[in-house]
Amino acid sequence: MTAGFPDGFLWGVAHAANQCEGSYDVDGKGLSQADVIPSPQAMDYVNIGDLMKVSREQIATAVAYHGTEGYPKRRGTDAYARWEEDAALFAELGIKALRMSIAWTRIFPNGVEAEPNEAGLAHYERLFTRLRESGIEPVVTISHYEMPLHLVTELGGWENREVIGHYVRYAETILRRYRGLVRHWLTFNEINTTLIEPYTSAGLLEDPERPMEPRSYQALHHQYLASSHATRIAHEVDPANRVGCMLARMTHYPATSDPDDVLEAQRLNEMNLQHTDVQVRGAYPGIVRRYWREHGIEIAMEPGDEELLAEHTVDFLSFSYYMTLVAAADPSTYGQTGGNLFSTIKNPNLPVTEWGWHLDPVGLRVTLNDLWNRYQVPLFIVENGLGATDQVLPDGSIQDDHRIDYMQRHLEAVREAIADGVDLLGYTCWGGIDIVSASTSQVTKRYGLIYVDADDAGHGTYDRTRKKSFGWYKELIASNGASLG
Ligand code: BG6
Repeated sequence: MTAGFPDGFLWGVAHAANQCEGSYDVDGKGLSQADVIPSPQAMDYVNIGDLMKVSREQIATAVAYHGTEGYPKRRGTDAYARWEEDAALFAELGIKALRMSIAWTRIFPNGVEAEPNEAGLAHYERLFTRLRESGIEPVVTISHYEMPLHLVTELGGWENREVIGHYVRYAETILRRYRGLVRHWLTFNEINTTLIEPYTSAGLLEDPERPMEPRSYQALHHQYLASSHATRIAHEVDPANRVGCMLARMTHYPATSDPDDVLEAQRLNEMNLQHTDVQVRGAYPGIVRRYWREHGIEIAMEPGDEELLAEHTVDFLSFSYYMTLVAAADPSTYGQTGGNLFSTIKNPNLPVTEWGWHLDPVGLRVTLNDLWNRYQVPLFIVENGLGATDQVLPDGSIQDDHRIDYMQRHLEAVREAIADGVDLLGYTCWGGIDIVSASTSQVTKRYGLIYVDADDAGHGTYDRTRKKSFGWYKELIASNGASLG
């Protein structure tokens, strides 16, 4: 052990294909559901979920338009074209792991093809090879808020059981192709968001005749099955493969010590953990079955489904951590603040970011201990970071002390959790490089340690500049955390 972090700790950075790659129509790539999300006309940070929805009409308009104007995720931050430059910067940073995703639409452009697109496969093979040569372990998300648009418009997204077969063919293709190059796999990004942002996470379009919640639960069931199949195949292809689930963990604190508030916080925590209950423990928990009963939700299951979930559970639990939330039996009397996926009651003890998200480093320690105590499988923090405005000074530098302070305090909490006994594989901050925000589609909500010269309208050179946080994190990694002090 050195300074509290174990040897071999996977220090890294994270990003997702649909938010950074751009080149949305290059080398045979098909349109994904992210490529048709228009820039929001107006920002509403409290009702953030409204920014992540698209209608059939908007999709038709987007499909008819060939260009990037008004569709920020088609541009990303130009990472597909500049992959060599970015890989060199990551090598210089000294990271041990790069969490990234493969764009499904580069491998199967419409999702239904019998054969994969070789140009897409070759691109990631070059990238993974380069990363490995630099001593960087790729941690690959198979589907991060990205699926072929065709599966959405023609098949109805993850609600349709047929999508499982298309995902499994895609997963098997990449698991076989990248055998030995990639050993850490995540099957879905933030799988719980299917219940919160059904379009972004599961390709579900609104239908006035059919309420969304039962459809979302059905889609989730299919995603769990797909994840278990991918886990099975990953272990068959290479017993050295390690597969993780990925949860947007949202620890709820009770607003007061009133037992009704405590009970509500517990209920919301249990509902958030239903996903890891299925994927780590292998079975739906009672609280979900009760919820289905009380809300008239009937999930179509086939013989063998529950056995599959029980048999092919994940090897580790990965999660994103940005904030904690607050629960009350009667939330109407409290003020609200923004949140990653939905708004929450404002916690008077915590400051908030420019986008209204609670800043709570101690909550990360609470979260790590809770997850470890409940599941006793290795954990992996695969997202944690500060979305903030950054200023370029006249000398061209970016002095992002706000981000350094954020990371310092969160990593101090991580070190404490490790000392508490938590088994933690690594920490990949969000993100290495500035990207397009998943929810607001802004580039100016910056997360990177590397600045990208681009604005929300897509103007700029897209040139990369190391921020002050780049040097700070580099030193931290080189000292295996000792420079935290
Ligand atoms: C997570 C997502 O929910 O939060 C990322 O996995 C996302 O894709 C990150 O970028 C930060 O959220 P946002 O909306 O500020 O980009």
